[in-house]
Amino acid sequence: MRSFATAALSALSVAAFVSALPSDPCAKIAGQKWVSPRDVRACYSSFKVDQKEKSNIIEVINKTLAFHASTNYQIKAPQPYTSDVHEDVLATLAKIGRQTQKNDYDLHIGLSRTLKRVNDGHCVWVNYCYDSAYVNYLPIPLVLLTDKLGLQHVTIAPAAFEVASAEFPDQIEFWQNSLPPWLKGKLESLNGARVILINGLDPFVAVNANAAITGGYQAFGTRQNSFFSSYQLAATGWNYIMGNFAQQSLPLDDQVMLLIKREGALLPETIILPYRSRFAGAAFTDSASYRQNNCKAMASSNGRDLYASSPASLGPEEELPIEKAEQQPKLNPEERKKFALNVLLDDIPVQNVVLPERLRPGLPSSDADYTVARYYLLEDGITGVLALGSFSAPSYWDFQQSLLDGLQDLKAKGATRLLVDITNNGGGYVCVAVFLHRLLAGAKPNTVPQAGFDTTARSGPLAQEIVQSLIDKNLDPQQRTLYSPLNWRDENNEFFAPDRNWLQPTRNLTINGNKDYFSPRLGNECYPEGFLDAPEEAVFDPKQVVIIGNGRCASSCSIFSIHMQKLQGARTVVVGGRKSTPQSYSGIVGGQSTNFATIDSEIKTAKLKAHGLAPPDLLVNGVQGITWRLGFGYDQRDEPEEWQARPANLNLALDAKLANNPQAVWYEVVKQMF
Ligand SMILES: *[C@@H]1O[C@H](CO)[C@@H](O)[C@H](O)[C@H]1NC(C)=O
Ligand SMILES: *[C@@H]1O[C@H](CO)[C@@H](O)[C@H](O)[C@H]1NC(C)=O
Repeated sequence: MRSFATAALSALSVAAFVSALPSDPCAKIAGQKWVSPRDVRACYSSFKVDQKEKSNIIEVINKTLAFHASTNYQIKAPQPYTSDVHEDVLATLAKIGRQTQKNDYDLHIGLSRTLKRVNDGHCVWVNYCYDSAYVNYLPIPLVLLTDKLGLQHVTIAPAAFEVASAEFPDQIEFWQNSLPPWLKGKLESLNGARVILINGLDPFVAVNANAAITGGYQAFGTRQNSFFSSYQLAATGWNYIMGNFAQQSLPLDDQVMLLIKREGALLPETIILPYRSRFAGAAFTDSASYRQNNCKAMASSNGRDLYASSPASLGPEEELPIEKAEQQPKLNPEERKKFALNVLLDDIPVQNVVLPERLRPGLPSSDADYTVARYYLLEDGITGVLALGSFSAPSYWDFQQSLLDGLQDLKAKGATRLLVDITNNGGGYVCVAVFLHRLLAGAKPNTVPQAGFDTTARSGPLAQEIVQSLIDKNLDPQQRTLYSPLNWRDENNEFFAPDRNWLQPTRNLTINGNKDYFSPRLGNECYPEGFLDAPEEAVFDPKQVVIIGNGRCASSCSIFSIHMQKLQGARTVVVGGRKSTPQSYSGIVGGQSTNFATIDSEIKTAKLKAHGLAPPDLLVNGVQGITWRLGFGYDQRDEPEEWQARPANLNLALDAKLANNPQAVWYEVVKQMF
């Protein structure tokens, strides 16, 4: 009797409690395309830390980092990057493991920023439960302009309104109405306004605060540049990159207060503009369905035994989660498996905000154009331009054919010198970068057979066992794994024998006080099987080649530009950097990048998933990138190029006419460099 009464009473109080609960914070934003970042945070912050998922993520990241070549270097990077890179990731992960987080969103920010602090765009942790599920925007991207006296000013991009009204037609009214009364409806009048203060402080306080958390590149100048808008030639055409001020992968900021001086205005004005978050995740109706549809591991979040018959869910059409982070066009799945990649990862997927038509190059391009590659002849009749937005393209071989035809065509039309615009080129296929170097430099001792970096892979105990297991048990007869000895040549450019554990004998190093093990030096990996035939003669004299970018030339783009600059004497220009900061023409070199799911496939194919050092299967909708091999440099032959200096020859100052106008930049570079 008594127990019945108690049960009835508690049922009653549960019902009362439920009805008193605040409404579900995720249900509040469900089904809406645009919401306030505060409401997104309320949804994200409502998820408690799941201890099982937390330890799973930490264990996956920790054990996968044993395959990342730079873990020990990044504890305290060699000069000139010592002040830029000094993060002991393993120690910080252990600390995060011991600490209590308020909620799962805070845990994610802690993990994501820990990885970002290594400032290596190959080595990241992205969780699609949060990263870019909503992207946070302002309609006023910024540029850094230089006036006639040489003074630099943070400025609202002269094209801001054109870009924002084209990209956000369904939200621009909201921003128009958010302006102070005397500016309502006059968002366009902010174009070209000088930004005197951001949130009451010098704009470079905000630029540098972003440089501290944005990750991606070692060099401080390059991370400063990511605050500003820029352009990129994508497979779909010329794109406008908003920059970190106007686009955030998490709902970090609710609004910004600016003191601005508009063009023609007599006095500075203070404006407050709200950020707005645009939904880009999987549809949901409430917290439970948000978690279910956005936060759980996908079919290919984890690897698989490459010889197990593939389940139906792994059809060739399925996008791999890692592809969303890779800053390159979508690849042919068969070629993706076959050719090594070295590519920048970002927690914002490749965007397609278009560069306004008046800023796109107006010169005719070429019949040889192919997706991310376009060829122009300037009006002087002697300067050719190769605009190259990526080292990956939908077809590996058509891409090489385009480079071959496009450059020879420019030469045939009379070009005797070449600009290569690699602005925001995040890398791609290693051997396309090496091929372009070989093509431009001609056949000579430093391009044949090896026109790329010699490299080294980390040889941790599990990596060595993977190779041994593949050999001993003949587990990879069709050479599907990265670790197959048949993929690699030694430093004399001879293939390893099929039964050779190519990770041994290890090179035993001590890096920042830790013992570390690397493979013997590896040689040419591209020639001849990864190359189209190229003419013996250099297509252009490399000394007449100038490489143009904003420092954001990563991975395979670094492989290309470093070879052209350090081996062949090409010159380099960075556009729009801060004068007082040294500018690097490229960064995060790596050698080959890969990711957790790929390493997991290697482990599963080698039948070593039960090994104590093997990461478990990931439970959440995340991806982890790593640098799997490092290229050796040229200034110091036996040290990774990753940690060597890459100063640009010129930091080109931008004015309102040059900003985000590739063709105008090319003519200005010709004036200053030839
Ligand atoms: C990382 O993995 C190593 C090797 O299994 C282990 O000794 C260490 O405690 C792990 N650290 C964390 C933070 O899990
Ligand atoms: C390198 O380390 C391995 C593993 O500890 C050891 O077996 C080998 O002898 C060392 N090599 C050299 C040259 O010291």
